[in-house]
Amino acid sequence: MQTRILAPDDQGLAEAARWLAQGALVAMPTETVYGLAGDARDARAVAAIYAAKGRPSFNPLIVHVPDLTTAERYAVFDAPALALAAAFWPGALTMVLPLRPGSGIAGLVTAGLDTVAIRVPAHPAAQALLRCFDGPLAAPSANPSGRISPTTAGHVADPETGLGGRIAAVLDAGPCAVGVESTILGWQDGAPVLLRPGGIAAERLEAVLDRPLASHHADPDAPTAPGQLISHYAPRASLRLQADSARPGELLIGFGPIKGDMTLSDSGDLAEAAARLFDLLHRADDQGRPIAVAPVPETGLGAAINDRLRRAAAPR
Ligand code: TXA
Ligand code: MG
Repeated sequence: MQTRILAPDDQGLAEAARWLAQGALVAMPTETVYGLAGDARDARAVAAIYAAKGRPSFNPLIVHVPDLTTAERYAVFDAPALALAAAFWPGALTMVLPLRPGSGIAGLVTAGLDTVAIRVPAHPAAQALLRCFDGPLAAPSANPSGRISPTTAGHVADPETGLGGRIAAVLDAGPCAVGVESTILGWQDGAPVLLRPGGIAAERLEAVLDRPLASHHADPDAPTAPGQLISHYAPRASLRLQADSARPGELLIGFGPIKGDMTLSDSGDLAEAAARLFDLLHRADDQGRPIAVAPVPETGLGAAINDRLRRAAAPR
């Protein structure tokens, strides 16, 4: 299969929507990372997502919709969920909520759970595609399972490290502004739980909820999120964290005062670092040298950046 690169104009969007209506897969830009989209009501399309990524089928997928009203067709919102939707949608927040019975979402999307992960992306091309296709799109990050997430169409279309040749099309809208995946929030025994740190800092969710978030203790043998697998987001090369200088042969990714061969952010800006993270890992990995990364603070978006770096560095 030849993967078509489409512009996010009327013609490109119409072609992308046609592929989706046929049960084919299209990579779509979102503000966080590129997602591998398929019709969430079509079990065959959803199975094709798992197959293209080589993803273990116990990991459920996020359903993308254009707005809260549409989200309410698929999930049941209580008052805190509505408050978060009002504050952060469209945007980099995914909520795991009770699945609305009879919603028509394919069972493979939720991996048979009675909850659904749902998100309203802010990216104009994702919004346009959702409206043009006029249905819910299941979309995990558009990378082979376990590898570095894609923040450009080029990452997605790469036949070696991406999905080129395995999917119908990529809608190319340039680099993603946020650069790390959405923050995932769920509820356990009525208490809000951070399932995955991401593009919206946990502190901001706590401010709206007016209570602290519990953090989820992942069981690596029974992950409820693949981002919780210990080894994930992995480059082919080895990765060393908390490096203040490069060892012989290493390529150093700097941050703030630690200058490397490349830098996440010279000025120590965490939003800039998040936006660059996966692209730098892709580029560093292309050089085939071991990678070292300077320390990044754990506050705000630093939590998501460090989460991805720790998993990328984990033994495989
Ligand atoms: O920013 C993002 O979230 C990107 C863009 C494309 O939207 N998507 C993304 O999807 O990161 P993915 O599949 O790589 O991660 C989705 C996460 C997984 O960790 C999955 O296990 C979790 O959501 N998830 C999905 N449904 C769930 C559910 N019902 N309960 C708990 N976790 C769930
Ligand atoms: Mg992913």
